Amino acid sequence: MEGRDIYIREGCNVCHSQMIRPFRAETERYGHYSVAGESVWEHPFLWGSKRTGPDLARVGGRYSDEWHRVHLIDPRAVVPESNMPGFPWLAENVLTGEHTQEKLTVFRDMFGVPYTEEQIANAKSDVEGKTEMDAIIAYLQSLGHAMK
Ligand code: HEC
Repeated sequence: MEGRDIYIREGCNVCHSQMIRPFRAETERYGHYSVAGESVWEHPFLWGSKRTGPDLARVGGRYSDEWHRVHLIDPRAVVPESNMPGFPWLAENVLTGEHTQEKLTVFRDMFGVPYTEEQIANAKSDVEGKTEMDAIIAYLQSLGHAMK
């Protein structure tokens, strides 16, 4: 939840889609095409319509956490030809988790997302003290794992 909110705040979705179309050129590069159920809990969905960078719908597990950390601080450290901007402040900003419980509760009560009582109860302590970098990497590593 927090990682996704940072992804939206930083405008990652302006350069990255999360929608693999059912064309061979896409499925060979990115994996199985996206299916409707994968974004059923997304409010708003982040399918996007512009790919300055690659589609990220199935990026989860493709790279290590450490690769993402280096890449997000300075993309050219790992991809020399990259024109993605760096986001070094994510490693410095620390989350308080102040509103995490409320966010999960709103998603459960308004949109029917099946968060458990336990997830909601632990939301603040799960997030507090982590950096925005930790949160956005956790989000990226989750992408593509909604369907078994
Ligand atoms: C101005 C456009 C732009 C923005 C904004 C942007 N990216 Fe990128 N991104 C790119 C480009 C271009 C690449 C391909 C080169 C590279 O890997 O750095 C890329 C690559 C990536 C990759 C590697 C994907 C792969 O399959 O190899 C990830 C992960 C990624 N970006 C995440 C993010 C995140 C998270 C944000 C927001 C914090 C973000 N990007 C913002 C342009 C952008």
